[in-house]
Amino acid sequence: MQDIVRSQSIAEVIRNRRSIDSFRPELPPRENILAAIDSARWAPNHRLTEPWHFYLCGPETRRAIIDLNAEITRAKSGDEAAERKRERWSRMPGFLVVTCDLDPNPLYERENYAATCCAVQNLMLHLWDMGIGTKWTTGDVTRDSRFYDLIWVDPLQEVVVGLLWYGYPAETPDSTRRPVEAIVTDLP
Ligand SMILES: Cc1cc2nc3c(=O)[nH]c(=O)nc-3n(C[C@H](O)[C@H](O)[C@H](O)COP(=O)(O)O)c2cc1C
Repeated sequence: MQDIVRSQSIAEVIRNRRSIDSFRPELPPRENILAAIDSARWAPNHRLTEPWHFYLCGPETRRAIIDLNAEITRAKSGDEAAERKRERWSRMPGFLVVTCDLDPNPLYERENYAATCCAVQNLMLHLWDMGIGTKWTTGDVTRDSRFYDLIWVDPLQEVVVGLLWYGYPAETPDSTRRPVEAIVTDLP
């Protein structure tokens, strides 16, 4: 078997990954994103439905999403808030949208969503292992019908699971979790 030299164990990658809010401006290479998508598709998925799809936003789509998000914010909170949002979102280097297939059977649809969330975690962990950070967002814009138009997705066929920003972290925040004892119950 080939020796694999790892800088971090899987447990370390899982433990060290953080949602990144502050990125360096440069866009990571496309092949790194495709490598992470390759890992994403190995997520467990019941009935092998492979329900996920990954939309890599080019500059035009990225700009249109930023504009739409500013417009939604303006309608809700006014001009100043909209400009703050525009400025913040314009600093996010990469935009990637993950969708999941809908299904007439509610159980299958729930399983598809669960599998796609596993795929997103695979994607984020592989990117993190390559030094690329992400932030998964499910803000209002991702549920707007105009967002679906922008990414050419039929909302009767697919649901947006998240918009992922990606890039090289400028800052890595800390995070906390409740202790294991607080979430484990021994059953007889
Ligand atoms: C389904 C989902 C939706 C999320 N949506 C948002 C969001 O809209 N805005 C945001 O700032 N973070 C969002 N996050 C990121 C969480 O805030 C983040 O995972 C949490 O604070 C824990 O931090 P960590 O990822 O660094 O451990 C989302 C995470 C998940 C799993």
